[in-house]
Amino acid sequence: MTGSRQLLLLLAAILTATLPAVAARAQLPDPAALAAVVQFNTMCSNCHEAECSGRMSFDSGSAAAHSHIERHLGGPASEPQVAALFAMLRHVKETCRHYPVVPIRPARGTWLAEELAPWHNPQAGAYFIPLGKLAAGRQQIHLEFDRAADGHVRIDTDRMEIVADERLCRDGSITIEVDASGDIEHFLHLKSGQAILRRIEFRRAGG
Ligand code: HEC
Repeated sequence: MTGSRQLLLLLAAILTATLPAVAARAQLPDPAALAAVVQFNTMCSNCHEAECSGRMSFDSGSAAAHSHIERHLGGPASEPQVAALFAMLRHVKETCRHYPVVPIRPARGTWLAEELAPWHNPQAGAYFIPLGKLAAGRQQIHLEFDRAADGHVRIDTDRMEIVADERLCRDGSITIEVDASGDIEHFLHLKSGQAILRRIEFRRAGG
């Protein structure tokens, strides 16, 4: 009795020690990689994503890229961070597609503030959130903020085709509609200044 109870306690201890880490890793890339993806898409891609199929010309060395990147990040950057951002730009230029990232989970129901937080870049007052594949048909994406937000919301596809583009003018929430084909990845680019996302709700339009 005592023996099996001890065994159970031991198992429970092992499970609680290992499970959260496994679950977190399955959901998101490591925090530094995730932060770099968010930085790239909130601070770099606005200038760089129209440059598909252009060749990289900073072959002269990463020193030039390093200071350029630090200037746009607004502060010091580590070597691995610069390398990660450089790789993302190369990927975008060579493939004309978003750097691949895994969404939080399938785009259904509600995504809450705490799971959206890693995709926020407070310094840029911006979010970059991969939505994954939206269900086929006309879909609503409802964003709710913690205060009136100024800025804009853009949704694009894996190939960086913009499918929705709306302004925020002191809005506490906004609903965007998108026609989805079911098999295309979508990405949310949000500029909301100080305003924090409270939630995102996915709904089928008219239902
Ligand atoms: C205000 C616009 C702007 C922003 C923001 C910006 N860049 Fe640039 N970037 C440029 C321009 C212009 C060039 C030089 C022309 C070119 O090569 O496209 C350049 C060049 C580069 C190059 C060399 C590209 C090559 O072809 O060799 C890299 C790497 C780079 N940027 C990375 C970044 C990263 C990473 C960020 C975000 C931290 C960033 N840039 C933000 C405008 C910008």
